[in-house]
Amino acid sequence: MTTVVVVGSGIAGLTAALHAAENGCHVTIVTKGELSETNTRWAQGGVAAVTHPADSVASHAADTRTAGAGLNDPAAVDVLVGEGPSLIAELVARGVDFDRTPDGDFARGLEAAHAMPRVLHAGGDATGAEIQAALGAAVRAAGLRVREHALLRDLALRGGRVVGIELDGGERIDADAVILATGGAGQLYAHTTNPRGATGDGVAAAIRAGAAVADLEFVQFHPTALAVGAPFLVSEAVRGEGATLIDDAGRRFGFDAHPDGELAPRDVVARANARAMAAQNGRPVRLDATALGAERLAQRFPTIDAAVRERGLDWAVDPIPVTPAAHYLMGGVVTDLDGRTTVPGLYAVGETARTGVHGANRLASNSLLEGAVFGARAGDAVARDRAWPVAPPVE
Ligand code: SIN
Repeated sequence: MTTVVVVGSGIAGLTAALHAAENGCHVTIVTKGELSETNTRWAQGGVAAVTHPADSVASHAADTRTAGAGLNDPAAVDVLVGEGPSLIAELVARGVDFDRTPDGDFARGLEAAHAMPRVLHAGGDATGAEIQAALGAAVRAAGLRVREHALLRDLALRGGRVVGIELDGGERIDADAVILATGGAGQLYAHTTNPRGATGDGVAAAIRAGAAVADLEFVQFHPTALAVGAPFLVSEAVRGEGATLIDDAGRRFGFDAHPDGELAPRDVVARANARAMAAQNGRPVRLDATALGAERLAQRFPTIDAAVRERGLDWAVDPIPVTPAAHYLMGGVVTDLDGRTTVPGLYAVGETARTGVHGANRLASNSLLEGAVFGARAGDAVARDRAWPVAPPVE
């Protein structure tokens, strides 16, 4: 039986773990906090996927490539958007309760750079928390071994192959294969939407083991983190519902940068915000969601509503101060479409991986989808990869 260690417990890691176990592997999940302490849990906006007959895989792929400035790997994009709908069905089967319209269809939100509303959400703006809870319960129900509060110190290598991991404190866990799902590295920055654990551990360990990495210069800044108190994400979905961005003079500046204004690709909006802030001595720009009204804000965005009010702000009455903040690492450990890295026995998935799917800038709400799609593929692959093939290096 193939023994597999999965390091990290967000959507990518748990999906990979479940798939590997369902394919007969003996799986141990190692996570440095509690199982539920992940970036996934913080995700608000949702999961982008083609679930409406008027939508198409070609349209979602085109939006993904446009947002990525054309630097995406087209084969990875095709896998992501083509397999997206079946992974949504899998999430539903595992218990994820996406929000629905009164007639039972998925409720779909619009987010920046999407040609149409295709972002599924749960609990309003608590999509990640819902997914984390459902997958965590599935892992527990399947009886997978979980090691919490266990920090990856390094990968164990023998003859150029990964044969397990070493934990902080010296303990070693042997395995035929290791799947890195440790998320990104937002904590490298003073202002980030990422949780404390986003410290790039998996990418660093992979580099030390000799794995190829690429595109690490592609770091996405989210345009709208709350600029009062600790940085807190204000989902793009708020702008999708009609909120606007204004400067100190109350002027909407987004259309100076792009014809789609506040709904331009995320990097364009973040840069427009940074420019507007520079022009007003660094003071934050403001997100004006007042037109949505108190009831809609509380019902559609309960998590953000609470965070805003905790900071003594009333966003139904006044525009709120926001600033760009480090959000997502497009680059990472180079993998093929099944999560294989350039080192035998080592896989990487989710934000830790560089599949090439995002190009230079990830499309909104493609990250949870990426975790599900490529996590599933890696979990399936690890079970059949007896010969430990590796990914070709990126040119
Ligand atoms: C957001 O809700 O704006 C963030 C979602 C994402 O990072 O795609």
